[in-house]
Amino acid sequence: MLSGRRVLLIIGGGVAAYKALDLIRRLKERGAVVRCVMTDGAQQFVTPLSAAALSQEKVFTDLFSLTDEADIGHISLSREADLIVVAPATADLMAKAANGLANDLATNILLATDKPVLMAPAMNPRMWGHPATRRNAAALAGDGVLFVGPNSGTMAERGESGVGRMAEPLEIVAAVESALAGPGAAPAAQVGYQNVIYQGQGAAPPAPGFGRLQPQGPLTGLRVLVTSGPTHEPIDPVRYIANRSSGRQGHAIALAAAQAGAHVTLVSGPVNLPAPPGVHVVHVESAREMLAAVEVALPADAAVFTAAVADWRVAGAAEEKIKKQGGGGAPSLNLVENPDILASVSRMKAGRPQLVVGFAAETEKVLAHAQAKLARKGCDWIVANDVSPESGVMGGDRNTVHLVTAEGVEDWPTMGKDEVARRLVARIADALARGGVKAGGKRGGGGQSGAAS
Ligand SMILES: Cc1cc2nc3c(=O)[nH]c(=O)nc-3n(C[C@H](O)[C@H](O)[C@H](O)COP(=O)(O)O)c2cc1C
Repeated sequence: MLSGRRVLLIIGGGVAAYKALDLIRRLKERGAVVRCVMTDGAQQFVTPLSAAALSQEKVFTDLFSLTDEADIGHISLSREADLIVVAPATADLMAKAANGLANDLATNILLATDKPVLMAPAMNPRMWGHPATRRNAAALAGDGVLFVGPNSGTMAERGESGVGRMAEPLEIVAAVESALAGPGAAPAAQVGYQNVIYQGQGAAPPAPGFGRLQPQGPLTGLRVLVTSGPTHEPIDPVRYIANRSSGRQGHAIALAAAQAGAHVTLVSGPVNLPAPPGVHVVHVESAREMLAAVEVALPADAAVFTAAVADWRVAGAAEEKIKKQGGGGAPSLNLVENPDILASVSRMKAGRPQLVVGFAAETEKVLAHAQAKLARKGCDWIVANDVSPESGVMGGDRNTVHLVTAEGVEDWPTMGKDEVARRLVARIADALARGGVKAGGKRGGGGQSGAAS
């Protein structure tokens, strides 16, 4: 995805600098070439040695370095990258960049570059809400700087919470992918972003559709969250429990929602599919990571839980590869239940999406199980599909589904997964236009999550 793309990462002096180290790793594992610049402040939090070890590149810290200036020079550094990422973007760095100051290497690069700049702000909520920071953020956005986050959450400072938490490394990666998404990509969806900045409410996940112009349609102005793919539950560092979900249905729904004008966040387990255009994708592996990403992505007007989330994970996955014991004797795996993402969102007391749609992948008694699931989970609709081996649904292009609602069951004819997606999205748009739906099932009860193809 980012193979060979050159990212210049400017690390600012905030507590979140430690997350920039993980960001280096995440960018590199996607094939990006990452060079780091660290401010003096950043070096109070993390060392250039760590950044150099993770990036496998020289780390630049000084403007007035005789050797660096002779070797590459700050102007070349600012121009050789495909994209400049500032993470964490501190209040100080944002203020300097907004006002064209250039008294260190980072700010010189920001002033001298002709490449897109993506900032991931991170600061105390009061600093983020201060009129000076808002002015600076708005000025930067007006200059064409892209933003990802900040998110809402707890701060490093004891007892403080609010908007100011740096976006998670995988969210920043997704924003990088969108920003680099090809020559046709328009500048970021800045209107959405500026609105959020001016309101001082933070931008929970990156502006969906980031880096592209949003199409107009029946979901324009609405936010849709979709989960897709399987989850991988580690047994040890090299083995995991998985399922046969390909993610095709969930990805098709995310794309159809984006094409209908929605701001879409797609939380995807490990799949072999490209990111749907215009969709903000958050990559996760396990059920617990998926739940965390869903919580960050909310609020949304509608949520469609298409992912086939593993019902169980291994309690206490081994830190080292489990070795074969001589003389037989296979290890036994102790399984514990995973969090139930569909049920927990369906039962949210505050901020529940107006419409919560689950998928039920069944191999027998499809409708009976789906109706029971609707009642058990407290969601509004269940899309039930037969995933028995003879159906060919898992990994295939076609799907036969039944839409189970409080009003009854609709049997849809067999059709391509793209067509299922478009039809479902049209129904969602219709329901939201009517102000949502009455919840179909009782709130409460236990049960398993897990779904589709
Ligand atoms: C413990 C500690 C944590 C800090 N965390 C942040 C932060 O998260 N965000 C921020 O904008 N400034 C933070 N600051 C203040 C910055 O470090 C300070 O403004 C510094 O000049 C930023 O420099 P730089 O952005 O040029 O690296 C923190 C300071 C301290 C002492």
